[in-house]
Amino acid sequence: MTQCSSGAPLGAFDLAVAVAREAGALLRDRVSTELIVAHKGTIDLVTDVDRASEAIIVARLRDAYPEHRIVAEEGTGKEAAKRDGFGWVIDPLDGTTNYAHGYPHFAVSIALECDGVPLVGVVYDPTRDELFAAERGRGATLNGTPLHVSQTDLLIHALLATGFPYDLSQRQASDALWLAFNGQAQGVRRGGSAALDLCYVAAGRTDGYWERPLNAWDMAAGVLLVIEAGGKVTSLNGGPHDIHDDQALATNGRIHREMTEIIRATLDALQTR
Ligand code: IPD
Ligand code: CA
Ligand code: CA
Repeated sequence: MTQCSSGAPLGAFDLAVAVAREAGALLRDRVSTELIVAHKGTIDLVTDVDRASEAIIVARLRDAYPEHRIVAEEGTGKEAAKRDGFGWVIDPLDGTTNYAHGYPHFAVSIALECDGVPLVGVVYDPTRDELFAAERGRGATLNGTPLHVSQTDLLIHALLATGFPYDLSQRQASDALWLAFNGQAQGVRRGGSAALDLCYVAAGRTDGYWERPLNAWDMAAGVLLVIEAGGKVTSLNGGPHDIHDDQALATNGRIHREMTEIIRATLDALQTR
């Protein structure tokens, strides 16, 4: 029996919730204040608040679980490629572009995985005071109320969401998929926070979401929310999902096949995956 088979350690879920709320309060306090903004790429920003949020989260988790791996977007543990055993996967501020513009749609995302399988997922939107949380096998909740994916079973009735890469030269596939779904769904949204995009599928606010490329910190928590709310998560071609891969297709399950068919046809036409 590996350490993963007995689930998350006692207290891990409650700690993730408390830490997400603490970091979220910082995000809420600092939004629309003067930020120190640096560029990681032409349009890829990082602010002093991303870093301050990460420092709070990492300190709390290290204190409680010094033996666990921690990987967070702004640098913590990125050199540790290991996936075995318990590992925390953190996006201290998902939606940095929104945040830097004072656009109130961003979140803290904290997941605990074991051998690549998410066991705990918490996403906190401090603007709306919405706490999305899930523990493997125990369902998903929003502020304590159980969540379920939508019942929409036709793409033409579906509201979808997606995102686009920061590398502008890599947008051909995303643009082609946007065009394809825009012509075949009820609507497509670009919210600017992958973690919240996934939680909105879990909450039945949207019916499907796809994106590539993504990082584990963008999706680890949200993927568990979708699964625990009764939805389906795969790679873009419908294959098994891996939070350490670079993509996700998350739906209510009912429109999954229709979406994979459109994705396959669109990417085949571009001769890309
Ligand atoms: C980004 C957001 C965005 C998604 C990008 C992510 P960040 O994360 O989630 O919605 O389209 O792929 O990188 O940089 O704001 O943490
Ligand atoms: Ca992110
Ligand atoms: Ca981030």
